[in-house]
Amino acid sequence: MTKRVRKAVLPVAGLGTRVLPGAKTTPKNLLNVVDRPILSYVVEEARAAGIEHFVFVTGRGQGAIEDYFDANPEIENALEAKGKLDILAEVRRDLMQPGQMSFVRQMAPLGLGHAVWCARDVIGDEPFAVMLPDMLMAADTPALAQAVAAYEQVGGNIIVVEPVPEGEAHKYGIVALNGRDGRLTRMTGMVEKPAPGTEPSNLFISGRYILQPEIFGTLETQARGAGGEIQLTDAMASLMERQAFHALEYEGTTYDCGDKLGLLRANVAFALRRPELADDARAAIRALL
Ligand code: UTP
Repeated sequence: MTKRVRKAVLPVAGLGTRVLPGAKTTPKNLLNVVDRPILSYVVEEARAAGIEHFVFVTGRGQGAIEDYFDANPEIENALEAKGKLDILAEVRRDLMQPGQMSFVRQMAPLGLGHAVWCARDVIGDEPFAVMLPDMLMAADTPALAQAVAAYEQVGGNIIVVEPVPEGEAHKYGIVALNGRDGRLTRMTGMVEKPAPGTEPSNLFISGRYILQPEIFGTLETQARGAGGEIQLTDAMASLMERQAFHALEYEGTTYDCGDKLGLLRANVAFALRRPELADDARAAIRALL
């Protein structure tokens, strides 16, 4: 019997250098895709997978994240008084329940592995999800819900993967598999940012994970890896000597909002997925081309 996944860690403490100057005063993950912050989509995805508690790993100047998910009586009362109830519903959709979110400070952006380790006390001794909020996943069944379903089937640790665009493997973590077993395959290894031509497969780690709490012990002593950062991929590779890891090739498409072009693609793709916007968006894009 697997323990239920109730909590998600959302590391947001990076500097967002690739989307500066936009990310200078607005945390990268609060930049808009269409009309909502990137984080709004990710939290919606998490809720659809049954997540009940959100642990944000933040850095300096990111107080706006806490405020975004909190009530704002001034705005809400004004919308109510003006009868703008549809906008009010959109605003309220993202509100957290009291006590549903925690914030831990990373102090310095030493890497994703370090960021996840900072959440150890809030997570405690239970399996948890990690969601990289700058990766937006367009999927009919939300990506994390697919990961939780896989976890309920095989237990252990689940890494969501996707075919990497040609020539981009060196930017991501890449998994190693011994053959493929449908969409859910036992992993044999993984490597962060492999040198071009050395990648063990064409599947990249696309930003959703289900991990066992033993990862925290591994992260505690994890040496710096690629880019001089403490890498989650390295810690997972070492935990894999003791625990099972499965790669789940999920059904959907990932949009990496961490750089300018990715953010632009996400805006276009998510506008085209919105029934009330799609026709006008298509016409506007055609006119520009
Ligand atoms: P990225 O490397 O994509 O984000 O990390 P970044 O560091 O903000 O971007 P650049 O490279 O400077 O442009 C993936 C996720 O992990 C978080 C980031 O905030 C992002 O959501 N992260 C990364 C941390 O929380 N702490 C870190 O030390 C590194």
